[in-house]
Amino acid sequence: MPDILPEQTPVWQHIERTVADLLAAYAYREIRFPIVESTELFKRSIGEVTDIVEKEMYTFDDRNGDSLTLRPEGTAGCVRAAIQNGLINQPQRLWYTGPMFRYERPQKGRQRQFHQIGVECFGLDGPDIDAEQICMLARLWKTLGVADHVRLELNSLGSPEARSAYRALLVEYLEQHRGELDEDSERRLESNPLRILDSKNERTQQILAGAPMLHEHLDAESAAHFKRVCELLDAAGVAYVINPKLVRGLDYYCKTVFEWVTESLGAQGTVCGGGRYDGLVEQLGGQTTRGLGFAMGIERLVLLLEAAGVSVTDRASPDVYWVLGDEDSQRWALALSERMRDAAPNLKMQLHSGGGSFKSQMKKADKSGAVVALLVGEDERNAGEVTLRYLRDSDRSQERVSADALESKLATELAHCAD
Ligand code: HAM
Repeated sequence: MPDILPEQTPVWQHIERTVADLLAAYAYREIRFPIVESTELFKRSIGEVTDIVEKEMYTFDDRNGDSLTLRPEGTAGCVRAAIQNGLINQPQRLWYTGPMFRYERPQKGRQRQFHQIGVECFGLDGPDIDAEQICMLARLWKTLGVADHVRLELNSLGSPEARSAYRALLVEYLEQHRGELDEDSERRLESNPLRILDSKNERTQQILAGAPMLHEHLDAESAAHFKRVCELLDAAGVAYVINPKLVRGLDYYCKTVFEWVTESLGAQGTVCGGGRYDGLVEQLGGQTTRGLGFAMGIERLVLLLEAAGVSVTDRASPDVYWVLGDEDSQRWALALSERMRDAAPNLKMQLHSGGGSFKSQMKKADKSGAVVALLVGEDERNAGEVTLRYLRDSDRSQERVSADALESKLATELAHCAD
């Protein structure tokens, strides 16, 4: 559960802001729901025989003896909140962000506390919304500057009925090779055979080469839905690869499922995953309402931006650093800076605190990233002026500016720097 330190937060904020702006442009509204939910909710939605529920949840009893769990993902809580608050009576486009918890083996791109930005739509049946969510993500990767580093993988899981018929066929085939399967896959043969499809084991993959494939056994409605999603993506110019073995690790999906994967991060290459879950709302006690959504891992996006060489400016670094002399100068400069903040609330100024020599203060001014230093000593104070020193312009050194003219002078100088 890593700490996210001040050097890292600018890129986090950049991602969060970019996603929030994009979601607003597609008319999504933010929802916030608790980090803790009843354990039963996750068991019923994610599925009893998934890795998450079997071995990754942080579950505890509260003082009342009720079993609670730190949310391992957002879909279950979002659906619960939507049902309880009457949101599913009409179509909804929702998004959320926050920490999720899974007891996994930590490695690069995999933490026990990680952060997702997720999206859920309720009450929208057509393939148009599947395609629109994917288009929105394609646009996000472009905006973030990582489009060349991700690939879209797409599949359809069909209806629950078609999937269970397929499941029987798959088990029948794999039973013939039971002794040759890896240990995990052999166990899954009883519990969750579809997950065997994305086994990383080489021998298991060789065996799967001869297995019946899900897309050959789709029900007619799911096949038509999937065909239409592909057509819409083709028309919008979004490239994809159909991966017939893509099954996702949560049980609630049906029809369209997708993942955006990258080769740039090593083993943890999935930056975003999602799909349809038309039965989940009903399964959790709501009226029949179709749903679909996705979630992206912010940690993995941070790593991806780094790998892609995207640089982000630190919005918290000041424009102006005040270098201060004696106590009277500090008092005079504080009052002046507060008047300037009244006039220019967006001006980012750091007043030196803690004393120290002029030289050491200037070093700090330089390190802060500020464009100008404002020097105030006895001399300046008596004259009602400030010495303005340019920190990033070697052609100009410094000039004196009267306190009254300082705000407008800075407005011109800083606008000029932004150009
Ligand atoms: P998920 O595939 O389990 O789906 O997680 C979505 C994303 O969260 C992953 O693609 C990955 O980027 C990130 N992620 C997952 N586990 C970790 C981890 N331990 N460390 C770092 N990042 C991680 C879901 O959670 C579904 N609720 C998505 C969804 C929403 N489907 C429909 N609506």
